[in-house]
Amino acid sequence: MVRRSIVSLGALVALFAFSGSAYAVLPNVPSASFAPAAECGCHAGLLTQWTTSMHAKAITDPLYLYKLGEANDATDGALGPFCNGCHTPVGVMSGEAIGSDLSKVSDVAKEGVTCDFCHQIKGTAGPLGNTSVDITADAIKRAVVDEPGVVSAHTVAGEASALLHVMANDTRDLELVLERIRAVEGIDRTVTEVVLSTLVQR
Ligand code: HEC
Ligand code: HEC
Repeated sequence: MVRRSIVSLGALVALFAFSGSAYAVLPNVPSASFAPAAECGCHAGLLTQWTTSMHAKAITDPLYLYKLGEANDATDGALGPFCNGCHTPVGVMSGEAIGSDLSKVSDVAKEGVTCDFCHQIKGTAGPLGNTSVDITADAIKRAVVDEPGVVSAHTVAGEASALLHVMANDTRDLELVLERIRAVEGIDRTVTEVVLSTLVQR
């Protein structure tokens, strides 16, 4: 049997993002930027609590849908977006909830007030009222979510906005990954710590 050791280049990248601007209304964020609740299963107890809560049913609850219909009928559809801002914030931010038409609402937006919606809120923005949230933290996630070199990403306390674990075949490959990340709008700068890690040993 051949003994082979595949050594890959790993890097820890500290990511610094611009602080977000305030929003008067909910920002535009695609629904793909929100992880479904099922992906939060490590927190099994919290997931069970949430699944049976009104937060999970905010947009699918028959009573809500009935009242939404009434509100829309009484106002020629003007009130629906106001209601949906709280009841399906992801559906409103992604543009999938169009007025009273909920037929294009994605599965994650149907989760109503879902884990990843609350957990990406950075603070309040705009005039306080209907879901006045600053959810720019998501910009960091969007910057790295489609980057194949990124193995994992964590938000951290301190100066950096996020800590990424990046895998690359060589330094050139690593530089290319970093270049792509730095090119994303909103990413201010990165600091890199390179480590050699054994990926597989046979
Ligand atoms: C500012 C946020 C917000 C807005 C805007 C909003 N809701 Fe709600 N709604 C809530 C919250 C929070 C609850 C409480 C859930 C609970 O505690 O059970 C709720 C509960 C409800 C319920 C009760 C659901 C049930 O089965 O118990 C209905 C019906 C409802 N809302 C309809 C509407 C309609 C219709 C509109 C628009 C006219 C609207 N909501 C706008 C936040 C909001
Ligand atoms: C309505 C908003 C909201 C929703 C929905 C929500 N969270 Fe949270 N979560 C919070 C807030 C607020 C805190 C407290 C943060 C703090 O104390 O700094 C918290 C704290 C936590 C914590 C750390 C403290 C603890 O109690 O263990 C975990 C883990 C967590 N949430 C996981 C989840 C998961 C998993 C889901 C979905 C199944 C979820 N959350 C849904 C708002 C939310």
